[in-house]
Amino acid sequence: MNASAKNTDELRATALAMVAKGKGILAADESSGTIEKRFKSIGVESSEANRRAYRDMLFTTRGLGQHVSGVILYDETLRQSGHDGTPFPELLKRNGMIPGIKVDTGAKDLALCPGETVTEGLDGLAKRCAEYYKLGARFAKWRAVISIGRDIPSTTCIAANAHALARYAAICQANGLVPIVEPEVLMDGDHTIERCEEVTEWTLNAVYEALYINRVTLEHTVLKPSMVISGKDCARQAGIDEVAERTVRVLKRCVPSAVAGIAFLSGGQSDELATEHLNAMNRDCGPLPWPLTFSYGRALQHAALTTWKGQSGNLPAAQAALLHRSRMNGLAATGQYRADLEKRAA
Ligand code: 13P
Repeated sequence: MNASAKNTDELRATALAMVAKGKGILAADESSGTIEKRFKSIGVESSEANRRAYRDMLFTTRGLGQHVSGVILYDETLRQSGHDGTPFPELLKRNGMIPGIKVDTGAKDLALCPGETVTEGLDGLAKRCAEYYKLGARFAKWRAVISIGRDIPSTTCIAANAHALARYAAICQANGLVPIVEPEVLMDGDHTIERCEEVTEWTLNAVYEALYINRVTLEHTVLKPSMVISGKDCARQAGIDEVAERTVRVLKRCVPSAVAGIAFLSGGQSDELATEHLNAMNRDCGPLPWPLTFSYGRALQHAALTTWKGQSGNLPAAQAALLHRSRMNGLAATGQYRADLEKRAA
């Protein structure tokens, strides 16, 4: 078998494993600034040792691999080791999870477009991807951010972000990493759910056109979209069924069935709502051409973080909280979550 055929087989296997039935992805790739913010909320200093201890707590949760297929890491974490000296990528693999890596370098002001950003990180990306592969990563993530507001998003912003996402995805595939393509339409603002739907549709259409132009193999990608929801400050907050229906409608319109799977971000939704929305889509909106699952950061980690509080004595309870949310979302990924049962169990 020649090298490129092997590469193709591995990319396909990785993409399918990421969205395996009843499993989703844990986003634990908070940048230094973001993790500092999270730690501040529980009164913990963001030192290298504390970041390592926190991620060690998450990754050594027994049974996590039954519900979590892969974990997105930050550069620092990919190079760190657990308390027993096992490098995190190896530790994850041993616990049945695929190591992934965030490769973008953040959303930066988009020139001449006030209030909008473009995600950076393309310079030197091929070299970084090659190194990340050697360190054990098998998939990557790049997050584009689209804000809704007065006169935004602009065509400029959508085009710049779609182009960067597609260039990133091509570079990943050329280096053996499955790209998670993440165009996040932010829920910040008082816009209606209708406006969110319109912007999400516009964004996804632009992203898939750019992926095509950049020769990306869709079968070797996972889409990580935001759900179609009401703006956080909108007076009318759409219910669970409406969110599920509108989200699936847009995805069906824009996402080719060749895509390996769709793993949502939680984007600031409450833990329970993120689970309920995913469940409703899988329970009521099928049949669908792709698996719909989760790639949550906050909605998986929030309970564990606030239980942990930086104290090793809280470790078992924090791990139990992470396992619980992972299990609930695993059930939602097959439409089998029951809110009433969760409430009784709590
Ligand atoms: P949230 O689920 O907290 O939105 O994080 C997912 C993520 O990876 C954002 O890039």
